[in-house]
Amino acid sequence: MSEFDRFVDRRNSSSTKWEKYKDRDVIPMWIADMDFKAPQPVIAQLEQRCRLGVYGYTKLPEELVEVFLAYLQSSYSWSVSEQDLVFIPGIVPGLNIACRSLVSDGEAILTATPTYPPLLSAPGDAGRDLIRVPVEKQDGRYVYPIKKLAESITANSRMLLLCNPSNPIGRSLTRDELQGIVALCLKHNLLLCSDEIHCDLVFDGRSHLPVATIAPAIEDSLITLIGPGKTYNLTGIGGAVAIIKNPALREAFIATSVGITGAVSLFSYPAMLAAYRDCSAWREELLAYLQGNRDYLRQRIDEMPYIRMNDVEATYLAWIDVSALKVSDPLAFFEEAGVGLAAGEQYGGAGFMRLNFGCPRSVLATACDRIESALRSADTE
Ligand SMILES: Cc1ncc(COP(=O)(O)O)c(C=O)c1O
Repeated sequence: MSEFDRFVDRRNSSSTKWEKYKDRDVIPMWIADMDFKAPQPVIAQLEQRCRLGVYGYTKLPEELVEVFLAYLQSSYSWSVSEQDLVFIPGIVPGLNIACRSLVSDGEAILTATPTYPPLLSAPGDAGRDLIRVPVEKQDGRYVYPIKKLAESITANSRMLLLCNPSNPIGRSLTRDELQGIVALCLKHNLLLCSDEIHCDLVFDGRSHLPVATIAPAIEDSLITLIGPGKTYNLTGIGGAVAIIKNPALREAFIATSVGITGAVSLFSYPAMLAAYRDCSAWREELLAYLQGNRDYLRQRIDEMPYIRMNDVEATYLAWIDVSALKVSDPLAFFEEAGVGLAAGEQYGGAGFMRLNFGCPRSVLATACDRIESALRSADTE
């Protein structure tokens, strides 16, 4: 038995994921956090910090900087300097700060859809225009829509928001695709803001390629957002890093965030330190387990009527085409079946549902049984 097979009862723990259905027999598989305990070294660091009993203002530990830079170097052969790092409370604040600080009124931001909802809302919330370009499908596989993006660029376009690996479509972009994106940005003088939070959850022996490592020229107009939240299941603690080599962009980014996003939490630093320093074996086991969950889910869904699942190259999120299931409210249909999914509309993907398979296999199996049984007796329009 793997430690990931163990059911952790998260009810009554103020969990956003579990509170949603607290009075119903619905397995929550919607928001993107996993039902696994964090790695033991993270728990130990947090316990130690907790025991001190004094929770005053906190300062970035030097060791965390060293450990994080070493992680970028060893995982991605990416050389970054201490001065390029801006520690922030989370990736979402980073996306919003980037839109506000680096793009002016009247300028537009582009992104490919479907994508993680804050990439769709941050531009508008900052008062900037958003240009959405749908991803394409070639031979059943989603591909990044470089040509269509190029056609959508106008004189006002200022920034491209990228999500790689992609939530919700599970793509880990290839070098060719990333080269296309970099060339596009350089040609049209676009800033690139790349959300790479899922970078360490890439399957089947693939390697994540930070877009920063594709061509040195892009680093002058690039903001990369990375953090341990997804991989080590620390999203409630927060903590992420914006990597910005261009000093003018970095200063503008910092100036906009000062006094607004607040400091990184006292508990984030020890959690990040342990995650990046002591948890690579845990991460390998997690990846193998998630890959097994993905294969199990794929096999089960392939045997079901009406619905089809994407090829999940990365993330613990499956993107399920439910358009052949002619029900008026697919979210309610699956909730009625006892499974709480995320509706595709919020990602810009109507007709799809997102399923989080970051849970014990037995829970996934029960969810599949429930979905299959509901589909087999579905009263479709
Ligand atoms: C692509 C992506 N970026 C960012 C986040 C959230 O990051 P944070 O919790 O650090 O704000 C998520 C969470 O699902 C995500 O999928």
